[in-house]
Amino acid sequence: MRSLMGVSEPRAEQAKASLPTVAPTAPAIAAPAPDPIVLSTRGLSVWYGSALALRDITIDIPRNQITALIGPSGCGKSTLIRCFNRMNDLINGARMEGEVRFDGELISAPGIDPVGLRRRIGMVFQKPNPFPKSIYNNVAWGARINGYRGDLDDLVERSLRRAALWDEVKTKLNRSGLELSGGQQQRLCIARTLAVEPEVILMDEPCSALDPISTARVEDLMDDLKNDYTIVIVTHNMQQARRVSDRTACLMLDEAPGEGHRTGILAEFSPTDLLFTNPKDPRTEAYITGRIG
Ligand SMILES: Nc1ncnc2c1ncn2[C@@H]1O[C@H](COP(=O)(O)OP(=O)(O)OP(=O)(O)O)[C@@H](O)[C@H]1O
Ligand SMILES: [Mg+2]
Repeated sequence: MRSLMGVSEPRAEQAKASLPTVAPTAPAIAAPAPDPIVLSTRGLSVWYGSALALRDITIDIPRNQITALIGPSGCGKSTLIRCFNRMNDLINGARMEGEVRFDGELISAPGIDPVGLRRRIGMVFQKPNPFPKSIYNNVAWGARINGYRGDLDDLVERSLRRAALWDEVKTKLNRSGLELSGGQQQRLCIARTLAVEPEVILMDEPCSALDPISTARVEDLMDDLKNDYTIVIVTHNMQQARRVSDRTACLMLDEAPGEGHRTGILAEFSPTDLLFTNPKDPRTEAYITGRIG
């Protein structure tokens, strides 16, 4: 009998014996590695009516990492994060130019269903926004409308466990989500997002309404989630960006020729450690040291 490599068994045994014992057995066909970039923009600009809010943004968001967006109020952080799952489509008068790609595909291409896109790229907002439904139904809601065929009880439990909320709510799943504390409500919203099994989670200031203990719980949770998800978080809290993120993008307000008002631009996008210890752009340095913004 011959092996797949065309080497008779005894010779194959000899060859194996001469290999270091720790050498892994290579699979016959290796699966292609996923692209390390999950979301990318090229020359992205956004207008609200005639006002340019965000100008010429080119950024690559790495897979299974946490990317923080920081910058002064009004510089377009929320606008940018909303471009990633076409939430700006829902805003009257919002218009976009340039490219946004998800897994290499243009998200604005004809035939892309924005609802399907938002299932794969979920969003958690600043203010926890549970539905006026039971804890159980808050989590089960998305799966139900997507026609989930698996065991719903199991999905609800898994999602609540993943959101580090199960132990606090397992005995009161039929109580209203609105009865939970703010920090618990935010974790419920995270569980609701996880239940539709997205690939990316966008978070727009998810902790700004939370106390330090709830904030720490959400931060721990993010660290755990990044093994399976890509996270993009907008935060005004620079300590938080330093604690949780792998890379940080610093947006700034800049005079745009002929615009008559300032618009958001990307000043710097670097590994977080580097951005906070050795910023390349003087505007980033001014912002992180509190001199602007
Ligand atoms: N729905 C909207 N309609 C009109 N203009 C808007 C809308 N949303 C945002 N803008 C404008 O776009 C610019 C960027 O706003 P955006 O909310 O993205 O900033 P931000 O960086 O998230 O600010 P903050 O830190 O205060 O949340 C601002 O000038 C804002 O007034
Ligand atoms: Mg914002």
